[in-house]
Amino acid sequence: MPPRMTLPVIELKPDSRPIPAEQREEVLASPGFGHHFTDHMVTITWTEDAGWHFARLVPYGPLPIDPANLTLHYSQTVFEGLKVFRGPDGNLGAFRPEENARRFQASARRMAMPELPEKTFLAACEALVAQDRAWVPSRPGHSLYLRPFMFATESGLGVRAAREFLFVVIASPTDGYFAGEVRPVSVWVAEEYVRAAPGGTGAAKTGANYAASLMGQAQAAAQGCDQVVWLDALERRWVEEMGAMNLFFVYGERIVTPELTGSLLPGITRASLLTLARDLGYKAEEARVSLQDWRRDSADGSLTEVFACGTAAGVVPVGSVKTALAQWTVGDGRPGEVTMRLRETLRQIQSGAAADPHGWMREM
Ligand code: COI
Repeated sequence: MPPRMTLPVIELKPDSRPIPAEQREEVLASPGFGHHFTDHMVTITWTEDAGWHFARLVPYGPLPIDPANLTLHYSQTVFEGLKVFRGPDGNLGAFRPEENARRFQASARRMAMPELPEKTFLAACEALVAQDRAWVPSRPGHSLYLRPFMFATESGLGVRAAREFLFVVIASPTDGYFAGEVRPVSVWVAEEYVRAAPGGTGAAKTGANYAASLMGQAQAAAQGCDQVVWLDALERRWVEEMGAMNLFFVYGERIVTPELTGSLLPGITRASLLTLARDLGYKAEEARVSLQDWRRDSADGSLTEVFACGTAAGVVPVGSVKTALAQWTVGDGRPGEVTMRLRETLRQIQSGAAADPHGWMREM
């Protein structure tokens, strides 16, 4: 076997697909989430023989795909999501990209895919942001969402790990996953479907987990709810996640988030909020929370707030819950004080409006 190649420095190519500045500004005024993409993308190839090689910064555009591509059939694919913010003095900062790089490696390991070195992941993100700087929004609360992903590029129908992959980073300006003002979401608790099972892929950021969640989300919508809440697969008793987000339960000064059992996604916003909550003097812990606790503690008033969190959406209050047998309100159904305090604390660090005590922002 030939020796493994080390990754060449990412090459900046002058060719581009520049979107006219006026059109870009129009998009940046109201970008939504995941609708518009910047002028370029980074691609890096992996083959079993050569390892990671052929890193390129190229115009954003379609990727050729063979009908027998292994990803299309057997879903060997992983992704990440992270945000780049424009600070008050125009400087750009990414929120904890090293954590995304590490989780990307963990997801790849679980899916029998090659691990991209952390410094290559970061260099790819930096190269794209440097090229497409004009796309980083400056309005408060807006950001550039980076979507690194990797998928099998080999073709074949045998069920096995592929021997060729492509890593890609694309970028999309956003003003948030849920548009407009902060509004508490209503949730439907899925008791028929599960998102992830012990020993499965729930802790990996892989497309199949999201496909598996769509029927539950459709049921939530049919029940008139915004989002689906997932329970554990074995007992259908313990609360795991909301849609593609982690959950937090506020008991006055005590804040609890479901512990990482292997079927939950280890959210970077989740980890950051545990730290920020402790900084602010709350007792923040990871523990199991049952659906029964959620209902009982909402009724007796000890559970004062519930919120969900994720990179794309930030911090989102949960106002009401519906199951096949019951329906209840959390607190007074409005965004709670602790929720809004944590939301604002995180946003201020990300936007550069407040100090960054943990060194989470990486200059881009
Ligand atoms: C994120 O918060 O980045 C997510 O994972 C949600 C995404 C699937 C839209």
